[in-house]
Amino acid sequence: MPGTIKKHAEERMEKAIQALKRDLATLRAGRATPALLDRIQVDYYGSPTPLNQLANINTPDTRTLMIQPWDKSSLSDIERAIMKSDLGLTLANDGINIRLSIPPLTEERRVELVKMTKKHGEESKVAIRNIRRDANDDIKKLEKTDISEDESRRHQEDVQKMTDKYIAEVEKVLAAKEKRSWKFKRREAAPPNTVGFCLFSSPTGGKEMIKLFQSWWKKGDRPASSVDPSTVDLSDENIPKHVAIIMDGNGRWARRRGMPRNMGHRSGMKAVKRATIAADELGISVLTLYAFSTENWKRPKEEVDYLMAIPKEFLALELDELIQKNVQIRMMGYTKELPDHTIAAMKEAMERTKNNTGLILNFALNYGSRREITEGVRELARSVQAGELSADQITEEMIQSKLLSAGLPEPDLLIRTSGELRLSNFMLWQTAYSELWFTDLYWPDFGREHLFAAVAEYQRRTRRYGGLS
Ligand code: FPP
Repeated sequence: MPGTIKKHAEERMEKAIQALKRDLATLRAGRATPALLDRIQVDYYGSPTPLNQLANINTPDTRTLMIQPWDKSSLSDIERAIMKSDLGLTLANDGINIRLSIPPLTEERRVELVKMTKKHGEESKVAIRNIRRDANDDIKKLEKTDISEDESRRHQEDVQKMTDKYIAEVEKVLAAKEKRSWKFKRREAAPPNTVGFCLFSSPTGGKEMIKLFQSWWKKGDRPASSVDPSTVDLSDENIPKHVAIIMDGNGRWARRRGMPRNMGHRSGMKAVKRATIAADELGISVLTLYAFSTENWKRPKEEVDYLMAIPKEFLALELDELIQKNVQIRMMGYTKELPDHTIAAMKEAMERTKNNTGLILNFALNYGSRREITEGVRELARSVQAGELSADQITEEMIQSKLLSAGLPEPDLLIRTSGELRLSNFMLWQTAYSELWFTDLYWPDFGREHLFAAVAEYQRRTRRYGGLS
């Protein structure tokens, strides 16, 4: 029957996608995982046998795979099978175990991996199209006996839609793999953009500031990096969905350079761009940035005015590129107190990016977690007062739905820069089970490699949510 034929075809297409994911997991990206050896077949007493049926495979560290054969006599057969594979691993044995070292990813190897990823993708597409052909043949056979030509056509159209869906899924899997796996290449620090940097018409700007900046750049004082990119060991699995950042240390960054605090914020704006691009590159779904708290109004008016001007400035400079990158801009905070120009800039950016489906860049602007919780609870209390709800019916989900972050996943990873170890009224409810990552770096020094390092550290953590691992 056509229904069964389509169901069977869909199951086969689903299997093709799973097989593609498995194949891609076996491509070496720089990190040791037993899945890399999934495809290795050993000639064991004349029959090809999967390696994982012949040995224990462990990862004593992120760059090493240890193979402990159950039958010592199979050691050389296993070695031969690994050498024949296209994994490019360095091999050593001590007569009992085999140690595989994963060399750092070279540019050459990276290119090869991209090619292999594409090849696997093409093979999956061919497999899916063959499944379509089989399904259509089976449907056509029914035309003579069970179904009309019209019905046959409709069923074949369904098969085509299914094919399109799974081909699109292949593209998605490939894009995710290419985007995440082979990208951590050392890059030079961005060249000093002295002109763009200094022509900003800041309330405190001016010629002196321009000179100060120019001399600072000339001294070669690039954003500090406490992270050696070549040591960052990122996996394409387990990328946090939501990363939230408390961007702290702008003032101290500026003071160290003998500059006014606002220049720290100005430089922090550049770090916002770097973090956004890096988050997008990693495949993070939501990046929430704490740009202004409900308590920051206590700062001097000049600084508050400057901070309120930054969103407009940032969006004027970066919105087009963010749109190109399919970034969706959102804001989480209380608009009532914000100046009109700040709201207008944010609204325009949100409107222009509302249909984008990539990274959600969520600015926490005039945001305070205690106020958010209080206002949410008040709203629920009003429902209780109105008799729409009893106090006992209030659930955690209801409180969550009243928060400004409703609809977004909770942050998996919370980063705070500048060495301060506190939450400062930021997403208190939402970070109940977030992994925390602190760095002494001041926010204006934060770059791509630091986000990568934080995510790599996140990947090493075990999240237990109060249970046992
Ligand atoms: C905390 O550092 C930082 C802020 C209160 C403002 C953060 C704002 C930005 C980084 C710019 C935001 C950019 C956009 C696009 C909205 P601090 O000033 O408290 O530093 P300190 O503790 O060293 O004084």
